[in-house]
Amino acid sequence: MTRDSMPSHHGPAGSGGSHENVTMQLLLERASIRDFESREIPDDVFNDVMRAAAHAPTGGNLQPYSIIAVRDQEMKDRLTEMCGGQRFISRAPVDLVFCIDYHRLERWAKLEEAPFSARDAFMSFWIAFQDTIIAAQNICTAADALGLGSVYVGSIMSSFPELREMLAMPKGVFPVVLLSLGYPKTRPKPRQKLQPNVFVHNERYTELPDDELRAVYNAKYNHAEIEAAPERVATLEKVMTRVHGDGAAAEMLVGIGERGFITMAQRYFGLHYRADMMPIFNESILKSLKDAGFGCLEPYEYEWELDESEVE
Ligand SMILES: Cc1cc2nc3c(=O)[nH]c(=O)nc-3n(C[C@H](O)[C@H](O)[C@H](O)COP(=O)(O)O)c2cc1C
Repeated sequence: MTRDSMPSHHGPAGSGGSHENVTMQLLLERASIRDFESREIPDDVFNDVMRAAAHAPTGGNLQPYSIIAVRDQEMKDRLTEMCGGQRFISRAPVDLVFCIDYHRLERWAKLEEAPFSARDAFMSFWIAFQDTIIAAQNICTAADALGLGSVYVGSIMSSFPELREMLAMPKGVFPVVLLSLGYPKTRPKPRQKLQPNVFVHNERYTELPDDELRAVYNAKYNHAEIEAAPERVATLEKVMTRVHGDGAAAEMLVGIGERGFITMAQRYFGLHYRADMMPIFNESILKSLKDAGFGCLEPYEYEWELDESEVE
């Protein structure tokens, strides 16, 4: 199959679609849920959903993760605050905080007199991060299958130290993402997505021509035109100047003037996930990791000589 002939379901940026297979149908229909009923999740349903995480693939079958379930209203309210006031976190019957957990493995290694350095190894971190997310996604799918719904919340990143303290995480345990879980009041339609004809490449990476690339994103965002309000344009100008200089900012302003609106890419990277701010958070995030006992983002100091066969 060539890339052009891949099914795109609904043109370049279809949403949902249908399938005779129930699992496929579930995957095509899924959408994040932010509007929850207040009713609790029965224990047996909750436990079934958690069992789906236990059976997710995980590097070396090590399962280096923990999930902290928060049901206490005061704690959920604090989570909401930590995540920039996203109220659905308080309203969901349970919020799950997914963490990389090397603490449990380290204790096991110690009890069994095994050497252990995973907190200092980037390779281990990289795998553990994936393991944690894969377990989380199994939970999302199981939850959807049992009539529940969920939404990830990445904003916990801005409050790592407070979150670790509130949830009493020992060294070696680090939060990755939060998932609010509950019964949906309503189930929104699947959102528009880029389709496989855009993101699947055959044998080697291939570029879409500029006009096609623009067209698939325009279709995904329904040709959104964001009002060029003066304060938005001023922010965009500041961000563009900081990251790419005066010339790029001047060109961007001419474009906005001619077009008469702000584009989705400008909104995403200039107003929402601000290109001038995002890398500045590196320092505090790396410090949080270090404070949690993860030395994996720095060169490893060691005193032994490696044999030739070991450095291949
Ligand atoms: C890592 C990650 C972080 C996210 N963080 C948030 C968040 O902080 N707040 C929120 O409302 N949605 C959040 N979402 C949900 C996305 O907004 C949502 O998945 C996306 O808009 C696509 O919509 P869909 O899930 O309905 O397909 C997050 C999703 C992921 C995967």
